[in-house]
Amino acid sequence: MLIYLDCDTGIDDALAIAYLLAHPDVTLAGIGTVNGNTTAPQAAANTLGLLALAGRDDIPVAVGSGEHPYAVSVHGGNGIGEVALPVGKDPDPRTAEALLLDLARRHPGELHVIATGPCGNLAAALRAEPRLPELVAGVTVMGGAVRVPGNRTPHAEANIIHDPAAAATVLSAPWPVTLVPLDVTMQHRWTVADGEALRAAGTPLHRALAEMVPVYFSGYEQVLGVREIPLHDPLAAAITVGEVTPDEAPLLSIGVEADGRTVEEGPGDVRTVLSLTAPAGPVMLARILTL
Ligand code: BDR
Ligand code: CA
Repeated sequence: MLIYLDCDTGIDDALAIAYLLAHPDVTLAGIGTVNGNTTAPQAAANTLGLLALAGRDDIPVAVGSGEHPYAVSVHGGNGIGEVALPVGKDPDPRTAEALLLDLARRHPGELHVIATGPCGNLAAALRAEPRLPELVAGVTVMGGAVRVPGNRTPHAEANIIHDPAAAATVLSAPWPVTLVPLDVTMQHRWTVADGEALRAAGTPLHRALAEMVPVYFSGYEQVLGVREIPLHDPLAAAITVGEVTPDEAPLLSIGVEADGRTVEEGPGDVRTVLSLTAPAGPVMLARILTL
């Protein structure tokens, strides 16, 4: 499966990247970054550092939209818990939007797009190329809170509230779109033991991920009251790849309000994953440990 990942790396974005690198059926054709957990340039530096640790400098990483404000979050100042990664290759000279368009045009009908940050780059690509929906195989967006509370406001989830207009554009475009909202991602978590399993794996990439996750655990401990982390972004990757199976996943029309809330408006075209058939945490750990 050919994948373009658009992300705001981010600790759970880093886990999604590791998951995609580990999966034997995935060809990660390119990665674009967007402001969110950190700035788009810092997210690219984080991504390039992770790829250097994995020995995957061949994957182009392009810096995307810088229009939207940097959000201080549970991911630490540089987005990855202040962990210092090696300096990787330079970013690709194209914008993220241009990289996505190039890949879609070069592989018509084959490219699967995953967005684990705000949707600005995807919306910009749609504006630049109205035929984009015909060129890609499908889009998965991690974001939204459909039947559960938000995580930035009582009703809004972070990726959507950072760029509601872009999310509205992406969710209403005529492409097969899957939404992976907090409804499902908050149900699939790692415990401290899972983080320790990463450290024990001992490769430089696993150790870097293990160094990042304590910050994420501490952020979520304040919210959840237990030291567990939800696997938002790797779950979007695993659903796209098909390694975990949606259980309740109705086709809905999802409206996006200016205040970032995602509103269920009846039947529609957005496959909205609300639950899975089995716990995903162990599946994702096992996969990442194969790296
Ligand atoms: C989403 O927001 C970001 O903080 C995470 O990386 C994830 O993509 C969860 O609401
Ligand atoms: Ca993210």
